[in-house]
Amino acid sequence: MALTTSLRKADVAAVATPLLIVAVPQGAMPPSLAALDAAAGGALARLYATRDFTGKKDQVASVYPAGPAARILLVGAGDAAGASVRTVRRAASVAGKRARLGGVKEAVYYLTPEARGAVPEADAAQATAEGLAYGAWHFDALKLPPEEVKPALERVEILAHGAAAEAGHTLGAAIGAAQVLTRGLQVLPGNTCTPSFLAAQAQELAARHKFDITVLDRAAIEREGMGALLAVGKGSAEDPRFIAIEYKGAAGAPIVLVGKGVTFDTGGISIKPAERMEDMKFDMSGAAAVLGAFEALGRLRPKAHVVGLIPSAENMLSGTAYKPGDVVRAMSGKHIEVINTDAEGRLLLADALHYAKRYDPACVLDIATLTGAVVIALGHTAAAVISADDALTEEVRRAGDRSGERVWPLPLWDEFREHIKSDIADVKNSGGRPAGSITAAWFLREFAEGYPWAHLDIAGTAYTQSEDAGSVKGPTGMGVRLFTEFVLARQG
Ligand code: BES
Ligand code: MN
Ligand code: ZN
Repeated sequence: MALTTSLRKADVAAVATPLLIVAVPQGAMPPSLAALDAAAGGALARLYATRDFTGKKDQVASVYPAGPAARILLVGAGDAAGASVRTVRRAASVAGKRARLGGVKEAVYYLTPEARGAVPEADAAQATAEGLAYGAWHFDALKLPPEEVKPALERVEILAHGAAAEAGHTLGAAIGAAQVLTRGLQVLPGNTCTPSFLAAQAQELAARHKFDITVLDRAAIEREGMGALLAVGKGSAEDPRFIAIEYKGAAGAPIVLVGKGVTFDTGGISIKPAERMEDMKFDMSGAAAVLGAFEALGRLRPKAHVVGLIPSAENMLSGTAYKPGDVVRAMSGKHIEVINTDAEGRLLLADALHYAKRYDPACVLDIATLTGAVVIALGHTAAAVISADDALTEEVRRAGDRSGERVWPLPLWDEFREHIKSDIADVKNSGGRPAGSITAAWFLREFAEGYPWAHLDIAGTAYTQSEDAGSVKGPTGMGVRLFTEFVLARQG
């Protein structure tokens, strides 16, 4: 069961709960906790006196008071002067993870005003709801009980009230649930999460929120002339799918979100090394982010028009697989020389980007685990945004900042186009190692014609290989928060 959060108006010193979580800034016990400390028989003051806990970022300490709360968990939010939406969200995710690992089903969360600093109430409530959902997320569906299986954290009441906090919480709770959907898809193994499975999930989502949806099967994909998507899917026993989902909460030109849906990437005939190949189940993270964004849209129903496009295939190697040297005809009519079958993402995105044109979009954002090179450029800290449109780049960057899903621009100068010149076709699908993320984007640009467009490369940020205080190892849901912020900001 997924975590539900709600707001509650109550005095922090008086709430009875199995677990009271209190986010505090670095330093001495904040004055706002005086009454709670008194109710707890001075337990907080005693803890602070030991200096075992100083409220440093990510630091936690448990106290067992005599008062109405069975436990108090203090969570350090770090330096009060540096308080931001980011630090508020982080404290909540550390709390969410701790509470879940502690095995409690319900908790109460209190963000001290000192830890909130200058962050507006609405933003704080949003970030808190997002953070709690983020930190509490885990995946145990494939483990037999009782080993490693703890009861899920089901309910957290956040101590806040008023219209601003309510509005912020509504947003954060929707985004939190949307991230849960995305991460739940990302984590699934390739033998479960196939193109037809993704399509079925999209259909279930569309039915739940009354979205329009079209799913093209192999025959329909052939009829549309999507030769690039077909080529990628050719080597697999799992047929490709093309998903088009639409939320129409307003008239006017839509924002189109395009997500790479490679449900497993072996590399194809240009096969990847065995080491860590299993990670390539995450190669549908772009698709999962688009579906997550639609989950948020369905819950929030803003005045916006948004289309989601997901080209999905499994990149396999077999006697029917496409090969290096093959030339395929994309839906746009352009011919692509396949240099490397492992550069498959840009192929299926090419057809989706061309398909997008029929909506006469206000803008198109694509999101993809596209290149290993972006990990070299930006590590696991930021995704790349690559676009020829400076205003759109800035708009995406701002949505990334606000949402905490950071993106950073890489240039798309004409010189980079040289790398993907083909001797015999219009374009080739690999420009080799130099500027790998940029040449991949240049390839996409060849098909993203007739509308403002930006590309997000999330290969370094969609999954984490390390466990930390605020999240488990695995899928991050990257893109969901950014897309939601982007759409809401456009709505005005
Ligand atoms: N899905 C991969 C990108 C990827 C690589 C993500 C490593 C995470 C870690 C993509 O399809 C791919 O294989 N890209 C190639 C492109 C190359 C052949 C031009 C890459 O980055 O090596
Ligand atoms: Mn690949
Ligand atoms: Zn791939």
